[in-house]
Amino acid sequence: MFPNHRPRRLRTTPAMRRLVSETTVRPAQLILPMFVAEDARQPRPIESMPGVVQHTRDSLRKAAVDAVRAGVGGLMLFGVPARRDAVGSGGTDPDGVLNVALRDLHTELGDATVLMADTCLDEFTDHGHCGVLTEDGAVDNDATLARYAEMAVVQAESGAQLVGPSGMMDGQVGVIREALDEAGHIDTGILAYSAKYASAFYGPFREAVDSQLKGDRKTYQQNPANVREALRETELDLAEGADAVMVKPALSYLDVLSAVAELANVPVAAYQVSGEYAMIEAAARNGWLDRERTVLEALTSITRAGADLILSYWAVEAAGWLDR
Ligand code: PBG
Repeated sequence: MFPNHRPRRLRTTPAMRRLVSETTVRPAQLILPMFVAEDARQPRPIESMPGVVQHTRDSLRKAAVDAVRAGVGGLMLFGVPARRDAVGSGGTDPDGVLNVALRDLHTELGDATVLMADTCLDEFTDHGHCGVLTEDGAVDNDATLARYAEMAVVQAESGAQLVGPSGMMDGQVGVIREALDEAGHIDTGILAYSAKYASAFYGPFREAVDSQLKGDRKTYQQNPANVREALRETELDLAEGADAVMVKPALSYLDVLSAVAELANVPVAAYQVSGEYAMIEAAARNGWLDRERTVLEALTSITRAGADLILSYWAVEAAGWLDR
């Protein structure tokens, strides 16, 4: 026994533990993902994500104001269109649900928050894939890039300050950067989903956006087994001009997050996805987990692993639990 080595001295009281805490989660680093549905007359609950809804334009506006008041750092919008087609026309239509919602929130909130949009076609296509398809049904990388470029410009014009390409097409960041610059949106940034895995944890999100997908996304999203590949994707996105990079999902990929944070000289985001939300909510409902403690532990762990920003469906509630 070496009496001089007593790490427990630093754990004796709440004040002592607070003093020596190495990681702090701040409300300002939290981003709230929000869904807005074109044909919703009232907010529609998403069954597999208790507490999360598909908003109407009106309820979105109110919830966004509340979120900003609660101190969250930004909002990430997803659109649920009333009609879908093969090329996801709704995503590039200035009057499509997502772009209309961006204009609403831009008018309502101005510079009081950071508005972001999902720059991806899967919510808008009738086959549910993140891009357009070739004749034999494969996702056509380069044809999709042209759609993303157009989509990003419309989103910037609608008020998005950060666009979020989440489709994992090769070259998407470069093409979007070029298109934004050409359209004069030099200050619109790109939050690149750099290491996005083909994950079962997106399950509830498919309900959230009424996804039409039948198969899977394994030809464009990453294999959960790989980490070197995530670093390569990150390097490419940085070279193409990503302003921030993202790892997704979060909790099962903390090693990836830590490696990406080590490599990147831009802010690193992590997306605590729908399945991560659903798991804790379900267990808490059964009385099997303490909801607040579990959520805060997850957010702290994601921050400790290297995330500067966290997309979380608990962002507003967590902001209320944390010191500003
Ligand atoms: C694609 C997209 C997805 C999510 C965010 N953007 C779905 C997917 O890749 O299948 C999932 C987010 C979540 O599960 O919370 N536009």
